[in-house]
Order: sequence, then C-alpha cells, then structure tokens
Amino acid sequence: MSTAGVNSAAGSHAAGARIVNGTRAIVTGAAGGIGAALAAELVSRGATVVLADISATVADTASALSTDTASGFESGAHAWVGDVSSVAGIDELIAFADDRLGGVDMYFANAGIIGPGELGENDADWDAIIDVNLRAHIRAAQALIPRWQEAGEGYFVATASAAGLLTQIGSAAYSVTKHASVGFAEWLALTYRDDGIRASVIAPMGVDTDLLRASGADGPAQAAVTEAGTVLTPAAVANVALDAVEAEQFLILPHPEVLDMYRMKGSDYDRWLAGMSRYQHRLNEANRLNEETTHAGND
Ligand SMILES: NC(=O)c1ccc[n+]([C@@H]2O[C@H](COP(=O)([O-])OP(=O)(O)OC[C@H]3O[C@@H](n4cnc5c(N)ncnc54)[C@H](O)[C@@H]3O)[C@@H](O)[C@H]2O)c1
Repeated sequence: MSTAGVNSAAGSHAAGARIVNGTRAIVTGAAGGIGAALAAELVSRGATVVLADISATVADTASALSTDTASGFESGAHAWVGDVSSVAGIDELIAFADDRLGGVDMYFANAGIIGPGELGENDADWDAIIDVNLRAHIRAAQALIPRWQEAGEGYFVATASAAGLLTQIGSAAYSVTKHASVGFAEWLALTYRDDGIRASVIAPMGVDTDLLRASGADGPAQAAVTEAGTVLTPAAVANVALDAVEAEQFLILPHPEVLDMYRMKGSDYDRWLAGMSRYQHRLNEANRLNEETTHAGND
C-alpha cells in the first residue's frame, strides 16, 4: 500500500501508522453498521476512503466523516452508491476510487446480507446471498490482485463472521457463505504473500447493527447470536479490526472466546455437533413456547 505520509504519522496510533496512515481504502456496506465504523476508524488513522453501499444513505455517512469539525481538516471520505456484488458495480467502484483517491491499497469486503432462514426455498434465495457474501469478494479480488501484484502490495479484508468458523443456527445460507468467505480470504493470504499482498478476515459474533436486528427479533437465529456472547458496538469491532490489520494478523476475533469455540470444534467435531444440536433443540422449544404464549394472548 501507499507509504505516503508514513513519516509524518504522529498521533495516537503510532504502532500501526506505518500501514494505515496515507492508504487509500474502499469499504463496502459502509452506509451504517460495521462498514461505517471501519470507514470512520480508517479516516481517524489517516486513510482516505470510499464508502460504498447500495443504500443512498451512504452519502450522509461519508459527509459526516469528510470534515473533522475540530480541525476543519478535509479527511477525504467519498460516497459511492451501487451494487458491490456485480462485476459492473465493482469495476465502476474501483474506477471511482482511482479517480477520487488515486488508487486502491486496501479493500474491505464488508457488505453482507443475512439471507433466507433455514434451508431457503429456491435458487434465487441462495443466489442473492452467495452474490453478496461470497462472489462480491471473489470479483473484487479478481479486479485488484493483478494490480496489487504489479505494485508489490495490497490488503484485502473480508468481514465474514464467527458463523464462518462455527455455524449460524437457523440459516444454512449465511453459515455456508461465511465459511466460504473465510476459505477465500485464507486462500488469498497464503497464495499472494510473496507478492507483498495481505489478507485478513473479521469474524465477530453479535454486533449491534441493522443486520442483527433483521435476523428476527424472536427467532432462533438472533437468540443464538445474542445468547452466545456480548453484543459489541460496531465501533469496538472496527477498532479491534484495524489494530489487527496494522499487525497483519489474519484471523480477527472481536469476541476472543470464538477461538476457544473454534478449537473445541476442531478437536472433537462430533462432540461439538452434538452440543450444537442440543442447543438448537432448546432454542426451538423456547421459540415454540413463545409462539404458543403469543397465540394464547391473541385468543
Ligand atoms: N451484526 C452482526 O452481528 C454481524 C456479526 C458477524 C458478521 N457480520 C457481518 O458484518 C458485515 C456488515 O454487516 P452489519 O452487521 O454492519 O449490517 P448492516 O446491515 O448495518 O450493513 C450491511 C450493509 O451492506 C449493504 N449492502 C448489502 N448488499 C449490498 C450490495 N449488494 N451492494 C452494496 N451494499 C450492500 C447494506 O445496504 C448495509 O448498509 C456483514 O458482512 C455481516 O454478515 C455482522
């Protein structure tokens, strides 16, 4: 990535200023939630950023970041509205970043959707989530890796999920696409290391965002996430993530206990499956009782 400004990188992030300060980054899914927090953290560490989202509200998120009111300093946060999962959208986004930032050193493939519950009903259900949670990452890498190989540097960060290491109770498509995004980032990290290219994967459990709320207030999917550990703020996740990126750490776990769960799964898969299955059963029972009480209350 660009090392412009490295030597002038004073401030509170001395340890990582070498990597983030002066870099040019794209963050997808940046209208709100984790993406907006990643963009804010990048800007606060001296990066210039294109915030990309399918929601036009990304313009407000970027403009709130583009001026540091304390210093009046223009930080250079730009909004791009479009679909970051299509090849045409990604090409347009990268051309926009080239124009506004002069290049792309870091790409945060963060946009994601929760997708259908359980098995989903048809191909269209699965196509939509595979496009956003997985193909978007592949397509962005296909566009950027050749340029980064030539430049001898570049950094790809995927927001996957703890569901990509463990599972997502109540959603096959979310579990599968998040596993695939971990697998893809891992493959990038080992394949292009000698080219100076790095990759990391962010794998949180619950984070307080629209996506978590969209997973169904009283359903097993959301209960499984909120009961499993603390629900973090997006800002806390972004802070941990950028520290880890500065340290060039591959696996970023804002909930450190996920490492123990992942080890437990790896050390005895059958025991882990049996435990998760018991947990699923308990959640189903609680959900059934909840529905019965609601129906009785409506009679
Ligand atoms: N919230 C959690 O508990 C949690 C936990 C683990 C991982 N994650 C992951 O974090 C990432 C960010 O999600 P979030 O929780 O901040 O939710 P969010 O809904 O606030 O953010 C996701 C953003 O992606 C955008 N988006 C969706 N499809 C898009 C497309 N095709 N093109 C452009 N933008 C698109 C949405 O408009 C939205 O602004 C996702 O990949 C999600 O799977 C979230």
